Amino acid sequence: MPAHPVNASSSDQPVNALQQILGFTEPIFNAPMAGAAGGELAAAVSAAGGFGMLGIGGNVTKEWMDREAPLAASSGRGWGAGLMAWVLAKNLEPLEHVLAHGPSFVCISFGDPGPAAALAHESGSLVGMQVGNAAELSRALEDDIDVVICRGNEGGGHGRNEVSTLPLLQLALERAGKPVIAAGGLATAAGVAAVLGAGASAAWIGTRFAAATESMSHQNIKAAIGAADIDDTVYTRAFDIAQRIDWPVQYGGRALRNEFSDTWAEDIEALAAAVGADDTLTKQVDDARAKGDTSLAPIYAGQSAGLSAAGQSAAEIVADLAGFRSVLEQAARRWSTS
Ligand SMILES: Cc1cc2nc3c(=O)[nH]c(=O)nc-3n(C[C@H](O)[C@H](O)[C@H](O)COP(=O)(O)O)c2cc1C
Repeated sequence: MPAHPVNASSSDQPVNALQQILGFTEPIFNAPMAGAAGGELAAAVSAAGGFGMLGIGGNVTKEWMDREAPLAASSGRGWGAGLMAWVLAKNLEPLEHVLAHGPSFVCISFGDPGPAAALAHESGSLVGMQVGNAAELSRALEDDIDVVICRGNEGGGHGRNEVSTLPLLQLALERAGKPVIAAGGLATAAGVAAVLGAGASAAWIGTRFAAATESMSHQNIKAAIGAADIDDTVYTRAFDIAQRIDWPVQYGGRALRNEFSDTWAEDIEALAAAVGADDTLTKQVDDARAKGDTSLAPIYAGQSAGLSAAGQSAAEIVADLAGFRSVLEQAARRWSTS
């Protein structure tokens, strides 16, 4: 069982239970983004009053964790980590490495979180799960999950391409007797106000933080996110197939369109055949990632890329998003019946 069960609905509580337990003052989580959200970003978000998260990739090493987790904790405030359930189903070691550093929150997404959730609870972490459809929401309502993160298909990076953030959030708020966080397409104070006004306990933001100065992403990737419009993304498995990464087929990724996705996203079978034939495409994409060649490398980002800028610090982003309060106050005044 979790050290601090949070089974109260956020919407009918004068005090936000999740906020009390995790200690954030701004209801802003940076999404756990493998390759972008390391210790520096997590620490900067937590130091700014939000809640900082580490993104744990499938091939994380103990050395990486021993370097990045203390950095994340260096703000002196709470921090968390996000891991992939389908990776942990084969091997729980990445989770064990994380838990050794005492995160207060662990999010286990993209597959069944069962054994991993039990292990995280044993070590005293709260456990969250990102959900992308009604069946996953039902799974997250079981007792071993403390926090539901509704991740709509407009979001960046991997996830289902089934339901958008607002329908999923509304369903979760109706059904969940536990805190609900909204994710996908949120990048401005108005967006944060929309989901908090609906009853979410916090906003979970990936793409805008991927472009932050503290993000580990390549400069060219940050610049590409900053330059993109809201309709510049594509949802595809092409980059995973090229890189030979075993993501379950229901979890494609939303990325900025580029030369590689324009060539292959509509022709996945031909891509799989080409990758099966020799190493050429795999090497091209791996090299492009290393060099920051944005024509061939995956640039995981959601529709909110069109609302994101490069060159902003995490503190600037959190301060900007904290403007949700005045958005909510203005709305309350505008619609007041008294
Ligand atoms: C660059 C990038 C990498 C991501 N990597 C992960 C990851 O490793 N683990 C995870 O749970 N989610 C990952 N996500 C998904 C986020 O947790 C979140 O669902 C998404 O960013 C929310 O939508 P937004 O990008 O519109 O803010 C990633 C997203 C991005 C943009």
